Amino acid sequence: MEILRTVREMQQRARDEKRTGRLIGFVPTMGCLHEGHLSLVKLARARADLVVLSIFVNPIQFLPGEDFFRYPRPVERDEALCRDAGVDVLFYPDVEQMYAPDHSVMIEETLLSKGLCGASRPGHFTGVATVVVKLLNIVMPDFAVFGQKDAQQLRVIQRLIRDLNCPVDIIPGPIVREWDGLAMSSRNRYLTPAEHQDALCLRRSLDHVEKRVREGELTVETLRTELAQRLARVPSVRVEYIEFVDNETLRPVERVEGAVLVALAIRIGSTRLIDNTVLGS
Ligand code: PAJ
Repeated sequence: MEILRTVREMQQRARDEKRTGRLIGFVPTMGCLHEGHLSLVKLARARADLVVLSIFVNPIQFLPGEDFFRYPRPVERDEALCRDAGVDVLFYPDVEQMYAPDHSVMIEETLLSKGLCGASRPGHFTGVATVVVKLLNIVMPDFAVFGQKDAQQLRVIQRLIRDLNCPVDIIPGPIVREWDGLAMSSRNRYLTPAEHQDALCLRRSLDHVEKRVREGELTVETLRTELAQRLARVPSVRVEYIEFVDNETLRPVERVEGAVLVALAIRIGSTRLIDNTVLGS
């Protein structure tokens, strides 16, 4: 596995690959890798000749007071996991490589990024969109893989690719969970064992909604109330949002008809967790 740390080296490598007609598959990450990330590598590995994974904790997608400085950076472990997973090139730039001191261009998605996580994290998706476009320009992949765990991020990126005519296919990867149902996340490391137990209410509430829909309950207000009641039973949980939205447009819906995304964001202690499921797909 090659480790490239500069934009120039990465672009040169990508150009050389493309000249020989090889397919580049790309998995952008912020590191602290887990099975969720590695499942995306597997999807890329199955189609690409060259798999590139980037690790870059992107400062501009963190709001002031968020966990940018304490975001876990287990460098050696991440490198070993990439090697074992069959990553060909690890792109590992530092902040100076990615942002000039007078960096002044941002990419803003103006519709899909405003609700859900965008409401409580204003500017977050502009930071994500900007870094993703930069990474695509550096790695020049034929396709890039993103997880459904961050459902809104995936939608925002798909929109960005469509609206800016980026020559790249986006491949979604399903959510990977711990054995107990908690969606894998680099931020799960922040949870104490007791908080981890409490966090299981996320998957359990989504299971409950899926069951109620199978039983024929399609009214969102009823489902939302039941979901809120279940989350309220866990004293350490503070609910940020419970949303039922159209899976494509992310607009709120009143009934479960077509594909509906149920998205949850909660805080347990100082840790923010999200989870989701798609109903009726
Ligand atoms: P990060 O949180 O490291 O996630 C990198 C990729 O892994 C994203 O596409 C995310 O959706 C996916 N992922 C995370 N947990 C997953 C899980 N449990 N199952 C499946 N996929 C999972 O998302 C980011 O980084 C950043 O915003 C980034 C896109 C790299 C831009 O900085």
